[in-house]
Amino acid sequence: MSDTDVKYGLAGVIADDTAVSKVMPEINSLTYRGYKVQDLATKCRFEEVAYLIWNGDLPTQAELDAFNAREKKERGLADDVLRVMGMLSKHAHPMDRLRTAVSFLGQTDDTTDDSTPAGLYEKSIRMFAKIPEIVAADYRLRTGQAPIAADPDLDFSENFFNMCFGEVPKPEIVKCFDISMTLYAEHSFNASTYTARAIASSTSDIYSAVVGAIGSLKGPLHGGANEAVMHMLNEVGSPDNARAWMLDALATKKKIMGFGHRVYRSGDSRVPTMTDAYEKMVDVIGSEEAASYWEMSKILNETMVAEKGIYPNLDFPTGPAYHLMGFEITTFTPIFVVSRITGWTAHVMEQLANNKLVRPLSNYVGPDQRDVVAIADRG
Ligand code: COA
Repeated sequence: MSDTDVKYGLAGVIADDTAVSKVMPEINSLTYRGYKVQDLATKCRFEEVAYLIWNGDLPTQAELDAFNAREKKERGLADDVLRVMGMLSKHAHPMDRLRTAVSFLGQTDDTTDDSTPAGLYEKSIRMFAKIPEIVAADYRLRTGQAPIAADPDLDFSENFFNMCFGEVPKPEIVKCFDISMTLYAEHSFNASTYTARAIASSTSDIYSAVVGAIGSLKGPLHGGANEAVMHMLNEVGSPDNARAWMLDALATKKKIMGFGHRVYRSGDSRVPTMTDAYEKMVDVIGSEEAASYWEMSKILNETMVAEKGIYPNLDFPTGPAYHLMGFEITTFTPIFVVSRITGWTAHVMEQLANNKLVRPLSNYVGPDQRDVVAIADRG
């Protein structure tokens, strides 16, 4: 094998078939099961999109009602899950705490090793219901507050706000969050999804696949970017400083968080929808702080595109949007998990429906073969 055969970062490699989503970088488009993601985000609630991702079609009202009832039945965290979460270090990143909680959940589930299609679907809905509860409870435990139980009268996004803050905000804010859920739900063979598929390919269990995917998503080059964007905005500080900050960062060759994408080179198809929702939310909040983040984002975006021709990715608008919704920065990537659990589990199901163990080759660059000298003769 020659060096040129190596596809570093698997860039450009088509590793398997998928019917879950299609990324079309040449026309900046992304579809879930054939539907444009921007239409799904604005016309459907996240629960409908979750149903679509798993079942291949949008639900009828009756199908959605049955699906919601099933999800609501799975809500509720057992005492031992909360006890384990209470034992975790408050200084650990919430992604590390979430990873441990999901791992714990897996070993308490008697059906963990049932990888039949029905068994996988059941556990996917279980995690879809319980992960938001874990993320919300974790936030409250870390901040010295008692967890709030899920409310069966609230829909998915409203319930998440209520479990975090004990109240549901204005509809525009809930809609902005719900849109972000749809936009984050699925994105073909990104690092965490491929991690989940690789783990599933050994016919390991679905919880193990999700735990591995959470570890992958944590990195700032992947899901952790939404947190990094917020740190960047806080460092920039004010709209007046935004252009100069960006020019200096580019001159000193800094990686600008929330910009660039391995697949999209001329814009991320999810960004305009999220930016619209973020702008509407800024108007509804009407505070000076909200206006300042909006202005900063706008100037940073314009400067980056003009100077480098590199466009924002979805993490760029979601970072400040989540901050303005009231979430603390370290909760941003766990919120990504609340959504992406749908895509990950759909891919695990797809992988196992036509499984081939993931086992790429490597290009060896170490020493040539040599003889082992006994320790006494090594000098
Ligand atoms: N800031 C500054 N320069 C960037 C950049 C960014 N965010 N993203 C890409 N570039 C530049 C690189 O420096 C490189 O320039 P060079 O050819 O002069 O060296 C060129 O664009 C290609 O970048 P590269 O890192 O090789 O592309 P990639 O496909 O491997 O990386 C990302 C894609 C996402 C890892 C990369 O854009 C990045 O690190 N972005 C910031 C983190 C982020 O927002 N991640 C979320 C992704 S959804």
